[in-house]
Amino acid sequence: MSRVCVIGAGAAGLCAARHLLVEPGVSQVDILEQAGQLGGTWVYTEKIGYDDFGLPIHSSMYKSLRTNLPKEIMGFPDFPVPESERSYLPAKDMLAFLQLYSDKHGVTKHIKFNHHVQLVIPKTGPSGELWDVTFKDMTTNISETREYDYVFVCNGHYNTPFIPSIPGLKEFEGDVMHSHDYRVPEIFTGKRVLVVGAGPSGMDIALEITSVTEKVILSHHLKEQPKTVFPDNLVQKPDVARIEGSKVYFVDGSEDVIDVVFLCTGYLYNFPFLHKSCGIVVEDNCVEPLYKHLVNIHHPSMCFIGVPYYVCAFSMFDLQVRYYVRSMNGTFDLPSSEEMTAHWEEEKRDRAARGYTKRQAHMMGPDQEKYYASLASEARTRTLPSVLTKIREESSIRFLHNLKHYRQDIYKIIDDDTYEIISNGKREILC
Ligand SMILES: Cc1cc2nc3c(=O)[nH]c(=O)nc-3n(C[C@H](O)[C@H](O)[C@H](O)COP(=O)(O)OP(=O)(O)OC[C@H]3O[C@@H](n4cnc5c(N)ncnc54)[C@H](O)[C@@H]3O)c2cc1C
Ligand SMILES: *[C@@H]1O[C@H](CO)[C@@H](O)[C@H](O)[C@H]1NC(C)=O
Ligand SMILES: *[C@@H]1O[C@H](CO)[C@@H](O)[C@H](O)[C@H]1NC(C)=O
Repeated sequence: MSRVCVIGAGAAGLCAARHLLVEPGVSQVDILEQAGQLGGTWVYTEKIGYDDFGLPIHSSMYKSLRTNLPKEIMGFPDFPVPESERSYLPAKDMLAFLQLYSDKHGVTKHIKFNHHVQLVIPKTGPSGELWDVTFKDMTTNISETREYDYVFVCNGHYNTPFIPSIPGLKEFEGDVMHSHDYRVPEIFTGKRVLVVGAGPSGMDIALEITSVTEKVILSHHLKEQPKTVFPDNLVQKPDVARIEGSKVYFVDGSEDVIDVVFLCTGYLYNFPFLHKSCGIVVEDNCVEPLYKHLVNIHHPSMCFIGVPYYVCAFSMFDLQVRYYVRSMNGTFDLPSSEEMTAHWEEEKRDRAARGYTKRQAHMMGPDQEKYYASLASEARTRTLPSVLTKIREESSIRFLHNLKHYRQDIYKIIDDDTYEIISNGKREILC
């Protein structure tokens, strides 16, 4: 009988617990969540900096956020987001959905809220490898160490800001902030704001703040130029070459005067609670060595749910969990550590050959379907229907070229390959 520790009660941790709780071979599931509530990313708070207990604020959620993917592809395979008129939901609806998922599967009562994981160390027990997990009850300041057979790391990766090295940034006299700390546009009223990065947050927030700023300069290196028509007080620029005094110089030789540098430059994977002996190294945003972006190759009784990005997140979490639980209960055996290492090294070579950088080690996007299929076939479980990735692709294109209106589109899944989209009053069937 196995005792399992799940770190985090965001979508990934909840999904892990949902499957573990019905597994006959699992006798104990402790879900350790540092916050006072579940939902992780989807919990909006006005606070920035530190919470009441002195822990860094986890969520990067901003007030106006609506999902950047339609709800039709944001649910779990066995638990879709409930029907409603719109496809793109506000964050509070996603949070309510996760609460419902957790309650319906009896997960909520297993969550130890306000329990912050401090340290995870592997050790050798009488019948193989075990884990010592030390966690602190933030309401009493009392720390405890418990022994587990398995550890599921589900702590999310949109919390630790990535700060790029821009010459002159450290000396910049104006404000510098990261999108992790962005909540409402008013803070930029009347300012000239340099937005660095045009990922989902950068694009969204740049557009949102044009309503209050004097000027927004959106600096990015998107391969495909967005066709979105932005308001007149937003200009697009290439990468920043350097900042000097209150001036920013771009790589095309142009320059501008700015008050604020607003970094929408993404996040870093961060596992501060993993002892060195866990054998996991994060370098240049590559977490290794992980087999299939999931299994700790040095200690296969530890897995990481949710590392890949540009995916159908909750569905992928579910598939990763099903995969791993099946390796636990003997449906299949994980390969030897030599084989897992060889597989990962081969994947790295393949990615490099296709022009991916090390920073993009866990980027899926076009690799999604292959990744899902490889997990499913090895664990003899159902893969994700291709309609999910098709809708994801369609939504991403519409995001780029019609940022202002794409969230009005309404999607409906017809079958595993086919969907319907109602856009601007027109109905289309796509497959
Ligand atoms: C602004 C924003 C918008 C997004 N929009 C979308 C979207 O529209 N569609 C989409 O699919 N995805 C979106 N995402 C991605 C989103 O993060 C994932 O979909 C998903 O919610 C991540 O779930 P998670 O469980 O991996 O991590 P999280 O939601 O971050 O949950 C991790 C949990 O672990 C807890 N934790 C961390 N460290 C510890 C510790 N040491 N001890 C105990 N507990 C700990 C945290 O408190 C948190 O509750 C968005 C992300 C951001 C930041
Ligand atoms: C826990 O420790 C913090 C910081 O040392 C302190 O401010 C707080 O009062 C303590 N709480 C309890 C319940 O002892
Ligand atoms: C193993 O776990 C999977 C997924 O939870 C389940 O469907 C399967 O029946 C389990 N197999 C055994 C032998 O318990």
